[in-house]
Amino acid sequence: MADLQAGPCTRKELPRLRKLLNEVFITERNAQGDIFEFAPLLYNEANVANLRVVRDGRKIVGHAGVCVRPIRWRGQLLQAGLIGGVCAREDLRGKGIGTLAMQDVAERMVELGLDFGVLWTGSRAFYERLGWHTMGGISMMRIDEAPGQAECCCELMLLAESPFGPKDCHRLHAEAARNEVVRTPEETRTVLTGAGRVTWLALEGGHLSGYATLTGDTIREIEGDAQVCITLIEHVASEGARRCVFPLNDPRIAAIAEALPVDVARRPLGMLLVVSRDPLVAKIADEAGASQDDLGIGASESVEVLMARIFGGPERKPSDEPLPLDIHIDYLDHV
Ligand SMILES: CC(C)(COP(=O)(O)OP(=O)(O)OC[C@H]1O[C@@H](n2cnc3c(N)ncnc32)[C@H](O)[C@@H]1OP(=O)(O)O)[C@@H](O)C(=O)NCCC(=O)NCCS
Repeated sequence: MADLQAGPCTRKELPRLRKLLNEVFITERNAQGDIFEFAPLLYNEANVANLRVVRDGRKIVGHAGVCVRPIRWRGQLLQAGLIGGVCAREDLRGKGIGTLAMQDVAERMVELGLDFGVLWTGSRAFYERLGWHTMGGISMMRIDEAPGQAECCCELMLLAESPFGPKDCHRLHAEAARNEVVRTPEETRTVLTGAGRVTWLALEGGHLSGYATLTGDTIREIEGDAQVCITLIEHVASEGARRCVFPLNDPRIAAIAEALPVDVARRPLGMLLVVSRDPLVAKIADEAGASQDDLGIGASESVEVLMARIFGGPERKPSDEPLPLDIHIDYLDHV
C-alpha cells in the first residue's frame, strides 16, 4: 500500500465510487438501496471535487465526501461541511486508507473556506484521533409502541396527494422559528421531498396546521403545535414510525411525552470539527455584539474549550445567552 494517493473523484470514476460505497454501506450491512440515491446532494456530478477518493494505482479503495451546507444562523452565514460516505475497502482496512481520506477531505474544507464540519457516526474513536469532537444536541423521542389513535383533531393526508406544496409547509416552519437556523424555501423543499422522504400533512378546517417528514421509521422533522404533533405521531406510528427527532429544547416535547407512550433522550448532534477558527469566531462575536474574550472564545482558549462554548452539549438548556449556538441540522440532505 505504498502508493496510496488521495484527491478529488472524477466524473468518469463515479460509477466505481458508487460500487465501493454500495459494497460498504449496503451489501456489508445487509441493507437495501443505493447510496447515491439516498444522498443525492452529496453524490452528484457537480460535487465531484468534494468527493475525495483514495486510490491504490487506478483502483478506488477509500472515500470521504463533503456536502457544503450554508447555515443561516441568526444574521450570519455559517458555512458547514456535512461529511458522508467515509470508508475503506473491506479487505484493506487498518492500513491508513480511512485516515488518508479524512485528512484529504479536511484539507478540502479548508480550501473551500468552510467554518466547521459535521458528521454522524458510530465509530467516534476513529474521528477523535483526527480532531473531531462530539458536540451539540438533539432530543430523540422513541415511540415505544403504536399508540391507540385518540379522537383525531385534524385530517391527515400525504403531501404528494394534497393541494398543498412545500412552500406552505415552509411558511409554517418559518413562523414557528424552532431554533436559530433560518432555512430557505428551497431547503425546506429538499427536507420534505428529498430522496426516500415521505411527508404527512395535518389539516384543520381545510388549513394546513402541521406536517411530519419521515425517512424509514424516523420522523426527521415535525411541525405544528403539540396537539397536532400528537395526532401526526399517532398516525405515522401506526404505519411503523418509531423515532422522532426534535431540536434539543423544543417546548412541545413535554406535552407530547405526557400524552403518548414515548421516551425522550438528549443526544449529541454529532461530531464537529472547527475548520477555520478565526472567521467562525469573528462571525459569532459580530452577531453577539460582544468581544471574543467576553464570550469565552478568544485566541487563548484551546480548541476543545472553544468548541464546547460554541456548540455546547446535550445538557444545554434554553437561555438568552448568545452561546452555545442553537443549531439543529440533520444528516446530509437536511439543513
Ligand atoms: C471506519 C473506516 C473508514 C476506517 O478506515 P481504515 O482505513 O480501516 O482506518 P485506518 O487504517 O486509517 O485507521 C486508523 C486508526 O483508526 C482506528 N480505527 C479504524 N476503524 C475504527 C473504528 N471503526 N472505530 C474506532 N477506531 C477505528 C484503527 O484502529 C487505527 O488506529 P491505530 O492507528 O491506533 O492503529 C473503515 O473501518 C470502514 O470503512 N468502515 C466501514 C464503513 C464505516 O463504518 N464508515 C464510517 C461511517 S461514519
